[in-house]
Amino acid sequence: MTFNEKYSEYTDKINTALEKAVKISDEITYRAMAYSLLAGGKRIRPVMVMACCEALDGDMELALKYACAIEMIHTYSLIHDDLPCMDNDSLRRGRPTNHTVYGEAQALLAGDGLLNLAAEYISGAEPHNAEKDISAVSHLFAGSGALGMIGGQADDIFAETHEATKELVEKIHHRKTGALIRAAGELGAIAAGADAGYFRDYTVHLGLAFQIRDDILDVESSAEELGKSNSDADNNKATFVSVYGLEEAKRRLEEETAMALDAINPLGEKGQFLRDLADYLLKRSK
Ligand code: IPE
Ligand code: IPE
Ligand code: MG
Ligand code: MG
Ligand code: MG
Repeated sequence: MTFNEKYSEYTDKINTALEKAVKISDEITYRAMAYSLLAGGKRIRPVMVMACCEALDGDMELALKYACAIEMIHTYSLIHDDLPCMDNDSLRRGRPTNHTVYGEAQALLAGDGLLNLAAEYISGAEPHNAEKDISAVSHLFAGSGALGMIGGQADDIFAETHEATKELVEKIHHRKTGALIRAAGELGAIAAGADAGYFRDYTVHLGLAFQIRDDILDVESSAEELGKSNSDADNNKATFVSVYGLEEAKRRLEEETAMALDAINPLGEKGQFLRDLADYLLKRSK
């Protein structure tokens, strides 16, 4: 099976499960949640959960449940990231942003709804494994919490109006994006019954690489191609490009990807998909 075929096999399962999880009510909040959750998106984080679990021959049904939960969290973070009080963007996943369609208050609530649904889903959906489910909730919510993703988003906003040092931009990226990608590896490892930190080095380097690529695309690509607004310069964002320059950002992207690849060497053949995934993320055009 090629990388693309395997990737589609994962995303088909993820998309089917997400649809089932969110299409349970006609109320406005659920409609607004589904609008963003089912709008496409690369599904990198849930694919990573599945692939990490499979590399360790783990429980793929449990991995699918955790995969859906992390995508719910990620999508909520995008809805909130686009709000006028944050990045104030109008295009996401090829569609008008959530608040553009539903209004700010409903978009805020749709994000909150997805956040709650993630916890409800891990504790309530099949299959159950009490010990692993508790560990999954704990790692997912630590990664997306105020010391992780939320803390990174707070620093990202702070940096718009303060001097952005190299130290600050690294910290922002490790937290606003890296922490959730690290949680993806943790969820995969937990579903496989392995130590939650098994993929730590792989995901920490890949998480930083992912946001560096995002920063580069923001200047080198167009909103049309990306399917989302590219507003970093307008918002005076602290990015790898604004702080280090394009050339150095590209060098760091390569370096971090190489370190991610090194970290999964011990997996041998079983790590092939994760290797291909790192390569895809290095070269992605959206
Ligand atoms: C966008 O994430 C937000 C960042 C952390 C850079 P993705 O690039 O994974 O967005 P989708 O899920 O594919 O829409
Ligand atoms: C967003 O970073 C990170 C989170 C949503 C947590 P960006 O603001 O760079 O993401 P995009 O470029 O809008 O997707
Ligand atoms: Mg942002
Ligand atoms: Mg943004
Ligand atoms: Mg960005």
